[in-house]
Amino acid sequence: MDLYGALRPLVFRLDPETAHNLAFWLGERVCAWPRLPEPTYPPALRRSAFGLDFPSPLGLAAGLDKGATLLPLWKAVGFGHVEIGTVTPRPQPGNPRPRLFRFPEAGLILNRMGFNSEGAEIVGARLRRRPAGLIVGGNLGKNKETPEALALDDYRAAYRLIAPRVDYIALNVSSPNTPGLRNLQAPEALKPLLEGMLGLRKEMGLERQPLLLKLAPDLAPEDLDAIVEVAVASGISGLIATNTTLDRGVVAEPLRALVEAKGAGGLSGAPLKAKAREVRRRILAALRGRLPLVACGGLGSAGDVQGALEDGAALAQIYSALIFEGPALISRIHRGLTSQDL
Ligand SMILES: Cc1cc2nc3c(=O)[nH]c(=O)nc-3n(C[C@H](O)[C@H](O)[C@H](O)COP(=O)(O)O)c2cc1C
Repeated sequence: MDLYGALRPLVFRLDPETAHNLAFWLGERVCAWPRLPEPTYPPALRRSAFGLDFPSPLGLAAGLDKGATLLPLWKAVGFGHVEIGTVTPRPQPGNPRPRLFRFPEAGLILNRMGFNSEGAEIVGARLRRRPAGLIVGGNLGKNKETPEALALDDYRAAYRLIAPRVDYIALNVSSPNTPGLRNLQAPEALKPLLEGMLGLRKEMGLERQPLLLKLAPDLAPEDLDAIVEVAVASGISGLIATNTTLDRGVVAEPLRALVEAKGAGGLSGAPLKAKAREVRRRILAALRGRLPLVACGGLGSAGDVQGALEDGAALAQIYSALIFEGPALISRIHRGLTSQDL
C-alpha cells in the first residue's frame, strides 16, 4: 500500500475541506523541496493537441489547484498537464461551508464551492514562478455578483492577467454553482462570448494560444449539436467535456437519498462516468474531427482513459478519482495505457 492509501482512513475522517487544506499545506512544503523527482513518461504516451505537445494524455482537471499553488508537485507525480482555476477576475470567497462532500463507497464527490478564488491578479503573479516543462492551462470564470449580461467583461479581465502566463485557456461556462453561468452555453450567448474572447486574444498577440470551452453534461443532445456548430464556426481550439452534473439520477438508491439530503451542488466521480461518456460521444459525432475534445468526468482507471481516447478524445483529465486513490493512480494509469492488459 502507498503512503496515501495508508493515510486515507485518517484523512477521510476529517471534514473534506479541512482535509483539502491540510493536503495543500503539506503539498506546499513538498513543492519547496529542491530535489523533487523529475517525471518520466513512456514515449508511447506522447500526444499533440491544439498545437501543444503533451508528454502524456492525462491531466489534472480544473478546480483542485484553483490558485496554481502546487504546480511542482503535479509535475513530479506525472501529470501531462494541469488546468488551474477556475480563476475569477476579482477575489471572492465562494459559497458558505459546508460545500464539499465525499462518498468514498461510491467514488462520488458533491461540491458547491462556488468559485472560491484569490482573483486573477494574485494567481497571475504566482504563475510567474511556474515550473518549466509542465503544460499549464488557465480555467476562467466570472464573479458571482457580475450580471450575466456583463459576463464577457469578467472573462476578458481574467484573461488579461492569466493568459500571458499559461499555455492554454479554458472558458468555464459549465459550473453549476454560479447562478446563471450555464446560460452562457446557449448558442445566442455563446457566440458573442467566444467572439469577444477571440478578439481579445488577437489584440494581445496571443493568436497561437489555444482557447477551449468547458461544457456541462446536462445539455440536451440537440443543444450539444448547436453548441458544437457555434464553437467550430467561432474558430476556438477545442472543447472539454464534462464538468460536474446536477442530475441526481446518476446515483443509485439508497445512496441517492443521502446525496439529496446534502443539498445543492455538482456531482463528480464514478457515478458521472456513463453520462459524461454519452455526452462526449454525442459531441464527437457532431464535431466530425473539426476540433479536438478533452475528456473529463468519471475517469478513474487506465481502461476508462483508454476508452475515452478510443472514442476519439485527444486528452483526458481526472479530479475525483485522484482524491479517492491518491497520486499513485497517475503512474498506474500510465502503466495501463502502455501495456496491452487493460
Ligand atoms: C471540488 C470540486 C471543485 C471543482 N471546481 C471546478 C472549477 O473551479 N472549475 C471547473 O471547470 N471545474 C471544476 N470542477 C469539475 C472538474 O474539473 C471535473 O470537470 C469534474 O469533477 C468531473 O471530473 P471527475 O469525475 O474526474 O472529478 C470541480 C470538481 C470538484 C469535485
